[in-house]
Amino acid sequence: MTSVTVRVPAKVNLQLAVGPLRDDGYHDLVNVFHAVSLFDEVTAAPADALSVTVEGGSIEGVPVNADNLAARAALLLAERLGVAPNVALTIRKTIPVAGGMAGGSADAAAALVACARLWGAGDADADLWEPAAILGSDVPFALLGGTALGTGRGEVLTPVQTAGRFHWVFALADGGLSTPAVYAECDRLREAEGWRPAPPQASQDLMAALAAGDAHALGAALGNDLQPAALSLRPALRDTLAAGREHGALGALVSGSGPTCAFLAESADHAGELTAALSKAGVARSAVQAYGPVPGATIV
Ligand code: C5P
Repeated sequence: MTSVTVRVPAKVNLQLAVGPLRDDGYHDLVNVFHAVSLFDEVTAAPADALSVTVEGGSIEGVPVNADNLAARAALLLAERLGVAPNVALTIRKTIPVAGGMAGGSADAAAALVACARLWGAGDADADLWEPAAILGSDVPFALLGGTALGTGRGEVLTPVQTAGRFHWVFALADGGLSTPAVYAECDRLREAEGWRPAPPQASQDLMAALAAGDAHALGAALGNDLQPAALSLRPALRDTLAAGREHGALGALVSGSGPTCAFLAESADHAGELTAALSKAGVARSAVQAYGPVPGATIV
């Protein structure tokens, strides 16, 4: 075996309903994940020791040591398989770093799939779910892809039926936001308002829109409980969201913990127009077009 390359998608949260803070530091979620056509690629090659190389445009802050979630994935899998974690991982990043699109989680999922194949773990798919959930709340979804309802801390997944293809534009920001910091800000804002959240519930309007492939209804049903916290930490994102709405986005929201903003378009053509308008408006580092749903981590 020479090397294995895995392509893995980014996600946007169509609904992110955040329950109260749990004793373990996590929040119970209702998290509707949707995989979109922005991909990272992870190559695993045999080597004398574990190494990580990161390539791509804006990769500042991505660790190139055992702190990288993909390296942690390789170490965890090697331990479980009883093999030496001797693998050179090369990560080619397109998914924005610390952007609320689960890029680090995607790389971890890709590393699990690539290393499992490299180390001859056979049809190990089923065996990857548990290590994936240990690595992070969003890692199991990066294995699955498509559209899925996540409960628990986000790691308990049920696939969601959708019709057709949805067209998106993502406005990428300069610099990232720390996920724990955004959750902490969400708790702080709720406490300041004296508001205790009820257990989160899946939106039936959202599920119906997905099943019908109805982009207008989907745009109206999108929701993210982390958005007030992301906007509190990064007020300029209000202008980004407003610019997308002005240009006819069917829905506009912060993606996950941000700072990437997601806009739902009517069609591929409309997404192209929206991408150009957002780029021109100067409200983002760049704007990129994508579609969903797409499959999860796949060997190429
Ligand atoms: O699971 P993961 O390591 O990706 O989570 C990163 C951080 O996001 C956690 O340390 C926690 O602060 C926050 N988080 C949360 N509730 C969740 C998922 C993540 O509070 N359900």
